[in-house]
Amino acid sequence: MLILDGLATSYGRIQAVRHASLHVEPGELIALIGPNGAGKSSLLNTISGLLKPVAGSVRFFDQDITGWRADQVARAGLLQVPEGRQVLGPLTVEENLLLGRQALAGRKPNHQLADVYALFPILRERHRQKAGTLSGGEQQMLAIGRALMGGPRLLILDEPSLGLAPIIVNQVFEALQTLRHSGLTILLVEQNASLALASSNRAYVMEHGRTVLEGPSESLRHDPRIIRHYLPSIETTP
Ligand SMILES: Nc1ncnc2c1ncn2[C@@H]1O[C@H](COP(=O)(O)OP(=O)(O)OP(=O)(O)O)[C@@H](O)[C@H]1O
Ligand SMILES: [Mg+2]
Repeated sequence: MLILDGLATSYGRIQAVRHASLHVEPGELIALIGPNGAGKSSLLNTISGLLKPVAGSVRFFDQDITGWRADQVARAGLLQVPEGRQVLGPLTVEENLLLGRQALAGRKPNHQLADVYALFPILRERHRQKAGTLSGGEQQMLAIGRALMGGPRLLILDEPSLGLAPIIVNQVFEALQTLRHSGLTILLVEQNASLALASSNRAYVMEHGRTVLEGPSESLRHDPRIIRHYLPSIETTP
């Protein structure tokens, strides 16, 4: 579905992504983990067209989408939930959701308002409320809901747990599981490695702008390299 081959992205002289290669197959929930500054957000932003690659390629289904603009990528059905949520504060919850329809550009929707409300009942309760008055967790749910309204063939999320209370994080990740079981394909960057590996079927580790490790999430959870660097809480003290 998605194939990145040797992707690289720079901010002027800063090489944020040096060599990233990965693939996502239909129905997968892929997690991308790695330390701060590894280039995870830059990689997602390159896939979704917010940044232009300086090398490598991005294939989505049967198209080479390398260097496409963000709106073109979204219209192809590759939808990123924006960082910092970016809901439109003065508009209501429902107006925000309906704006997500713009990404369809003639494609068939795969989620209706009712589906989003079933996934996040709090959004139904607040559908007439201005988005700017929602809590951080509710705004995250709204941002996901808005992406769903755009008919994603692949949904990309950058740290959906950031800044949220644990109980809200659980709700968001349960929703991601529900979406996956309904057949949606998801690529997720998540700082919390334990949560990322518990919720994905396969994962990649990114360090210094490179994808350095890949495998089934279940095996990575027991990989000493992962445990030492990313799962310190379950490391046994000598
Ligand atoms: N707008 C920017 N201008 C210049 N350098 C940037 C910019 N954004 C990111 N960088 C640099 O690019 C590198 C990768 O950053 P990026 O945000 O992609 O990492 P990350 O893995 O998402 O980190 P985090 O886990 O903290 O979100 C870092 O060295 C960072 O300082
Ligand atoms: Mg980031």
